[in-house]
Amino acid sequence: MKISTIATVVATVVATVVATAATMRAAITPGSLVTISQAADSSNAAAWWSPLDEAGGYSWLAYLVNPSGGSVSNNNVMIARRDTSSGGILRGCVKSASGACDVFADNIGHNQPSIAIDGDGYVHVFTSMHHATWNYYRSQDPYSVAEIIDASSELPDQSLLYTYPIVKRDAAGDLWLIIRGYNDDLQFSSDGDVHIQWEWAKYPASAGRHESSYLRYRPSTGVFKTIDGVAVSVPVTQSTANLVFQPLATGEIYGDDSGLPPMMQSAKLALYENSAGTVLVQHAFRFQAEVGGTWQIRRSVSHRGNSVWTQETVFSADNTTAALGFTHDGTTARIHFCKKQGSAWVLERSASSTGWSSTELAAVKGQQVQRLQAILRSDGDDVLYLTAATNVNSTTGSVYFLTVGGRE
Ligand SMILES: *[C@@H]1O[C@H](CO)[C@@H](O)[C@H](O)[C@H]1NC(C)=O
Ligand SMILES: *[C@@H]1O[C@H](CO)[C@@H](O)[C@H](O)[C@H]1NC(C)=O
Repeated sequence: MKISTIATVVATVVATVVATAATMRAAITPGSLVTISQAADSSNAAAWWSPLDEAGGYSWLAYLVNPSGGSVSNNNVMIARRDTSSGGILRGCVKSASGACDVFADNIGHNQPSIAIDGDGYVHVFTSMHHATWNYYRSQDPYSVAEIIDASSELPDQSLLYTYPIVKRDAAGDLWLIIRGYNDDLQFSSDGDVHIQWEWAKYPASAGRHESSYLRYRPSTGVFKTIDGVAVSVPVTQSTANLVFQPLATGEIYGDDSGLPPMMQSAKLALYENSAGTVLVQHAFRFQAEVGGTWQIRRSVSHRGNSVWTQETVFSADNTTAALGFTHDGTTARIHFCKKQGSAWVLERSASSTGWSSTELAAVKGQQVQRLQAILRSDGDDVLYLTAATNVNSTTGSVYFLTVGGRE
């Protein structure tokens, strides 16, 4: 297992598969809803996290539960391993060296877990860091949930304080971690490059974020490039040319802690490699244009893979929650999202469609799902982690798993 560090952000570990198939998908074909837990902690909700991975013939879902017999203001971190063929589920908690399930304080939107499985099958979990030193756990055995033990002391930069770990696996099986500030997403192209997406705020803790940005990193050379292929030295700033994919709107300012619109949030990154081998980079994100306005969904695309960004508003009809999933398969882009009144939907656009279609994921209708994550399988199916914070009672919610197929 290799741990890499990227510049001003500390970077480590894992990967999702970026499909490059030339086929199209159009029909939205959800599978059956799988209930992973109806004992989730009501604080099991975040926009930035990566609580879902697939590896070794299993889906891996990380979630919080109220500690058995403990305070509802605390949580244990559970890992559910679901066999992709049989559907059988095994569970384990992250543990201290003494073997007890570790207990953490609830802190919604900040202390949630991210998970990734490395190329050798080891399970890596980062959790409960809101301006805190490392809370990092690793399984003792490949593909095992039995002994996922505190390994925080093995990481570099022990004295720094961290927030928002996002961890993913590249095609070589190494894990990459982006952490701290407003990091959003990581993806990998088939040439081994790491694509990094983040947003900026006035203070480390401001809810209003702006000028979402993108860089491409080549591990073999250590060089960072902007979308137009220009090498830049880090740290970069908002004034680095062609870094920002969502420029400041009219009247948009860096405000105080609470944040005032115009502002953006919850960005996700999707890549598409065309037949010429060009990597087309796309961002989906939420944007609130005015006070009291809906949180819209927007997309910013580099159409020719080496040009400046083009923005479009994809959805503004209803209010959305701080949760987006973004995948791209063949010529089809999909944005999974939740409406504020509680339901999960998918926006889809393919080369053969004239605009975006919006389809409710009927399987979760009525479950009050408010957060989700989506990853793309190599067969073109999207795999969704869905969570409802309080649909059992005031302290307890649920975690669901759903595949959404439909490649043509
Ligand atoms: C949308 O939700 C935000 C809070 O997330 C709220 O400030 C805004 O007023 C809502 N807008 C509408 C039109 O419901
Ligand atoms: C909520 O449900 C959980 C799981 O069934 C239970 O342990 C807990 O006591 C319930 N809490 C309340 C406030 O009803």
